[in-house]
Amino acid sequence: MVAIDGPAGAGKSTVARQVAERLGFIRVDTGALYRAVGLIALERGVSLEDGPALGTLASGLELAFVEGPSGPRLTVNGSDREDDLRTPDVADAASKVSALPEVRAALLEAQREMGVDGGVVLEGRDIGTVVFPDAEVKVFLTASAEARARRRLGDLEQRGVESTYEDVLAAMRARDTRDSSRKHAPLKPAEDATVVDSTEMTQDEVVAHIAGLAQQS
Ligand code: DC
Repeated sequence: MVAIDGPAGAGKSTVARQVAERLGFIRVDTGALYRAVGLIALERGVSLEDGPALGTLASGLELAFVEGPSGPRLTVNGSDREDDLRTPDVADAASKVSALPEVRAALLEAQREMGVDGGVVLEGRDIGTVVFPDAEVKVFLTASAEARARRRLGDLEQRGVESTYEDVLAAMRARDTRDSSRKHAPLKPAEDATVVDSTEMTQDEVVAHIAGLAQQS
């Protein structure tokens, strides 16, 4: 089992996908589960601060990944919602609901089930610290806020979502503060994680490094 945690925009998704391909593993993007809770809460008009209501909402969702042409896609109650999960509003809602212990508890079991057979690369914020503290390989992938904002802006542009560098950087800093200062499962490296700072590394170098750690373990 390979756990890759780290802040938004550090390149976790691409790196996790490529590491999984190299190792012949499945990739599980746990952020998508929090995004699904944020998306459905927005659609149903549930307050993003109402822990008990959101916990109930999260436990009632049927969440499953199905293989698509460019990787796993999340289905929510049987519908493919992958594209709807990737907007800035849903990212913001996900960050808010993920601070609530009721939501984290509701999604914990789902994540453990997805990883229980091994042969998986799980990416998230608390995989190495909370979800699978016994993972054989734990990586904390990070990069400077500026580098992460530049990459995230490129992703948004590619998908035709309009934004500016300043807005992306400000949103990223706000999300970093919220994700790492929350009381429940804050974003931090596990004590036994290998910290990989990708600011000055190419994607290929990061992938080779992590795949190397997995092959050695
Ligand atoms: O990785 P992402 O941007 O798709 O994650 C969306 C939000 O979900 C992010 O603000 C942090 C939260 N998250 C979390 O708290 N724990 C995880 N294991 C994964 C994501």
